[in-house]
Amino acid sequence: MNSFTFENSTRIHFGEGKIEAIADDIPKDKKVLVTYGGGSIKKNGVYDQVKEALKGHVWDEFSGIEPNPQYDTLMQAVEKVKAENFDYLLAVGGGSVVDGTKFIAAASLFEGDPWNILEKQAPVKQALPLSCILTLPATGSETNIGAVVSKGNSKLYFHAPPVRPVFAVLDPKTTLTLSPRQVANGVIDAFVHTMEQYVTFGVDAKVQDRFAEGLLLTLLEEGPKALSSPDDLNVRANIMLSATLALNGLIGSGVPQDWTTHMIGHELTGHYGIDHGRSLSIVMPAMLKVRRREKEDKILQYGERIFGITGGSVDERIDRTIGETVSFFKLMNSPTSLADENLGSEAIDVVVKSLEKHKRFKMSERQDMGPEECRKVLEAAL
Ligand code: NZQ
Ligand code: ZN
Repeated sequence: MNSFTFENSTRIHFGEGKIEAIADDIPKDKKVLVTYGGGSIKKNGVYDQVKEALKGHVWDEFSGIEPNPQYDTLMQAVEKVKAENFDYLLAVGGGSVVDGTKFIAAASLFEGDPWNILEKQAPVKQALPLSCILTLPATGSETNIGAVVSKGNSKLYFHAPPVRPVFAVLDPKTTLTLSPRQVANGVIDAFVHTMEQYVTFGVDAKVQDRFAEGLLLTLLEEGPKALSSPDDLNVRANIMLSATLALNGLIGSGVPQDWTTHMIGHELTGHYGIDHGRSLSIVMPAMLKVRRREKEDKILQYGERIFGITGGSVDERIDRTIGETVSFFKLMNSPTSLADENLGSEAIDVVVKSLEKHKRFKMSERQDMGPEECRKVLEAAL
């Protein structure tokens, strides 16, 4: 196992009715800006619960944060924060709202051009305190220090400890109104986050491996149930906790990580508007095919422990394991090839060039993947 330092200070309020916890958990002397997206929280009663809980606070709102939050929209919120002296942010929505709010929190106190936070990875030394009420289990953003922001077709990320949410409310009931497509996106996002910290090369990290396997098995079991029994709150609760734990830093501590599938996926979203989760179900199987030698031991372990695949030659086992992964994504009605999203070879150059532009030269668990190696993955995804 590699050495590591682990910290996750976000307080989690988990369960039905927990939104009311924000009344006591946000200091009363704070001026709160509630941020949200396109209005789903107004349709499912979450907004009303927030309003009720914030009765004793001074607050206002900023709406319209898009899926794959846009830099220009977020900068409008930064203007509002500065002009009206808000000193606490409460994000209510999916990963895009949480990520966007992290950027607002950082940019509001940033000296210089906030674009540098994304483009130049300028260090974020301070941020406004922020918390969140999550309504879409997927990204893990609710307790981690990462955020992804888009400008035009560039989808860029930053990581900074000051933007870790103070607390996160996870009420599975808020997720009952998700469309089947968003449910699938979330399950696949959490599944792929786990895979990218698990299917790399072994470092004898037994606890991390078995935690990861627990998350994968839960998502495999509960994901399809969330589509077939959409009113089952226990299913939603298990998915919600899995998604948070998949990217709260724990399973990635002390192990190699490979985020290449995400980096390619971000380009597909940036250029073709493919949902984040759907970009991952397209790229991940191709990644396993192309990187079968580099990831061999862990693909075999994944195949055996998750799908019970033990017989046959190494390559037969790997092929069957990839096949099972594809079947799961298909069961979630998610695309597993570029063709499924009506894209052909013309997309490959676009994505490869964009990876070059974003300087993705040393990706993977061994830092041995750059844009040209990704070309092979994209060809395998046709
Ligand atoms: O905008 P509203 O009206 O709220 O509607 C949203 C949006 O249209 C809707 N939605 C959310 N909760 C709902 C709901 N609809 C009905 N009922 C509910 N309870 O769902 C749509 C998609 O929301 P979005 O927030 O975009 O989805 P998701 O949570 O999948 O977030 C995706 C973003 O997170 C980034 C992605 O790149 C993408 O930009 N990621 C962030 C990460 C992180 N911070 O650690 C890691 C991830 O790998 C990922 O890259
Ligand atoms: Zn993701």
